Amino acid sequence: MSRTNNIWAVVPAAGVGKRMQADRPKQYLALAGTTVIEQTLSRLLESEAFTAVAVAISREDPYWPELKISGHPQVITAPGGKERADSVLSALKALQERAAEEDWVLVHDAARPCLTSGDIHHLIDTLQEDDIGGILALSSHDTLKRVDAGTISATIDRSHVWRALTPQMFRYGMLRDALQEAEGNAAVTDESSALEMQGYRPKIVEGRPDNIKITRPEDLALAQFYMEQQ
Ligand code: C5P
Repeated sequence: MSRTNNIWAVVPAAGVGKRMQADRPKQYLALAGTTVIEQTLSRLLESEAFTAVAVAISREDPYWPELKISGHPQVITAPGGKERADSVLSALKALQERAAEEDWVLVHDAARPCLTSGDIHHLIDTLQEDDIGGILALSSHDTLKRVDAGTISATIDRSHVWRALTPQMFRYGMLRDALQEAEGNAAVTDESSALEMQGYRPKIVEGRPDNIKITRPEDLALAQFYMEQQ
């Protein structure tokens, strides 16, 4: 496939983050002097890899319009959906006038604020000429167990198991079609799984272990620590 000039970022940010037990969605919690989502978006914008960043925001979200970054000329706001996949599809649709079918899209969780510019460019450089695309992922250092009804039934060969991170990088048209066909399927928890259901075999690109997703309260302190180390 041909090399295209525009690369787009899509950021699903319409989740409520119940596991944080906080008074607001986790993307609006304080981190390194700003908020989680401002850190995430600044890193995407500062990488200078993207023509624009489409952010999916819940219709009931009072916090987003208050942030200066929501008015950034390269930031496009789209309505969020019921599930993560619905939010991603909505953000893709917000780009439809500007994106070509072959353009690359990098989908990145709002809740992963420690993403480095190095990892963004590593992913793009590795997959730029690929037909399908792929994802940042981490190999597993722990021994992994299959558990049924609270007891271990098997040890899984860890050389075959990777942890899926974001960004996940796919062609605009292919990703839109795969998400549309997978609509309502609860097994689609990331973009790659939608492509896999179509029979595609996305690539993995090893990412940095500090690209954590803020999920539990203690993750904020960990993210702060990683940012200081970076
Ligand atoms: O809840 P979880 O951490 O898996 O969410 C991953 C990302 O997907 C978060 O950035 C969250 O805001 C986003 N999301 C969304 N729309 C939903 C659910 C989650 O944009 N309906």
